[in-house]
Amino acid sequence: MSKSLSQIVLPVAGGTALALSVALVVANLDYGQNKISSLEGRLEQASVRADDAAGKAREEAAVTAELEAKIAEIQADARVRAASNSGLTEYAPNKESGYGLGRKARTEEIAAWDIDVLPDGRGLPQGRGDVFTGEEVFAEKCASCHGDFAEGVDNWPVLAGGFDTLADKDPVKTVGSYWPHLSTVWDYVHRSMPFGEAQTLTPDETYAIVAYILYSNDLVDDEFELSHENFSDFEMYNKVGFLIDDRPEREYAKWSNDPCMENCKPSVEITMRATFLDVTPENGGESVMNDAKADDTPTFVAKAATPDATGGGAEAAATKSPAVDPALLASGEKVFKKCKACHAVGEGAKNKSGPQLNGLIGRPMGAVEGFKYSRVFVAAHGEGRIWDETALTEFLAKPKSYMKGTKMSFSGLKKEEDLAAIKAYLKSFGE
Ligand code: HEC
Ligand code: HEC
Repeated sequence: MSKSLSQIVLPVAGGTALALSVALVVANLDYGQNKISSLEGRLEQASVRADDAAGKAREEAAVTAELEAKIAEIQADARVRAASNSGLTEYAPNKESGYGLGRKARTEEIAAWDIDVLPDGRGLPQGRGDVFTGEEVFAEKCASCHGDFAEGVDNWPVLAGGFDTLADKDPVKTVGSYWPHLSTVWDYVHRSMPFGEAQTLTPDETYAIVAYILYSNDLVDDEFELSHENFSDFEMYNKVGFLIDDRPEREYAKWSNDPCMENCKPSVEITMRATFLDVTPENGGESVMNDAKADDTPTFVAKAATPDATGGGAEAAATKSPAVDPALLASGEKVFKKCKACHAVGEGAKNKSGPQLNGLIGRPMGAVEGFKYSRVFVAAHGEGRIWDETALTEFLAKPKSYMKGTKMSFSGLKKEEDLAAIKAYLKSFGE
């Protein structure tokens, strides 16, 4: 964008004009063509700079206008809110003459409270301290609780070590392994330690102690000196171990949907039955709960009723013997309540006052190891008699007449359906 001399001369005024007219005079005096062209060059530069400046000024004016518009908008908004008296976030009323309460805080008062130190080092007082000094101060003022090497005495907090334990069951969270910002160490120590004598440390002592704590965490060598100058350069070991909590933006909306209240799961898995858990043992007797584990017990899978199913009701099927009618099994479980005080069944079942009844059908009579049977049972065992369905039915109907002299004090099951049910139930624990 080359401009001829006269074009530029015309709009310029004052000192520049003077200089230019001198230039013209010089030119007229015919000092040679190259002199003129060099002057022309300089003028051209000046005009480019002027253009630049004008451009910037326009930009800034635009920004200013934008900001002014925003301020006006915010003020208008505030006025509307104040007028409608809405919300708890209203601005405090501004009374020009004041309320006659209190007085302005003094600068020194504010300074005494304003001791926080931020991660970038803002708020730090000037000062410095090295590891050696830190070791001395720490030994004198901190070691009684935190140990000579910051390892912690008894149950006082450990300040060093514990690296790479954060994902363990018992993480050791120390300044070294856990704290993400050095400013927290400085601020915490300066603000609240030594315990019971808070805020007695000078800035230099605090710098030295913090240097020493870093040293005991092997994060610096023994030559290290910490000061307000190098403070913000130091990066903590676990600096990246913290996340910004963005749940309000990312998750709250999901949680605040209407909760599902029916037919929310395609299938329901029962992992434990109250019977096996023996939550409230009859007669306050031994509880199998002491030994029961969720995976010990048979698993029942109940299909949730589909919304349009007629008659409803969950169909339960014992996975161990899928052919058995679940209703029969359920009533067998009920009948077994009469036996439960003396017998256990299911995986891990132990002998109680009666023997455990797993795999009963097909099992020789009187065969459970470690159980002390009566003579009649010992004899039946000797004869090689086996529990089959008939034997079991007859025994359970009238124990005392089927096995004269048995020590099982149970009068017997009178109802046919109870007998059928208990057999089905016992069979579900293996034949
Ligand atoms: C009388 C015992 C005692 C003395 C002396 C003491 N502290 Fe402590 N310190 C504590 C106790 C107790 C806590 C835990 C306080 C809490 O959790 O509220 C603690 C916590 C800390 C922590 C935070 C530990 C963490 O992981 O949460 C640091 C850092 C610390 N002290 C540094 C120091 C320094 C440096 C000194 C010496 C200037 C010192 N303490 C002197 C008892 C003491
Ligand atoms: C008051 C305790 C008690 C009650 C209640 C009881 N039993 Fe017994 N049961 C025993 C005792 C004790 C024995 C061992 C009998 C013997 O040695 O004479 C036994 C033995 C048995 C046996 C033989 C086991 C084997 O190893 O040969 C079976 C089967 C049996 N009971 C089933 C049942 C059933 C089913 C019920 C419930 C309907 C029941 N019992 C109720 C105490 C009881």
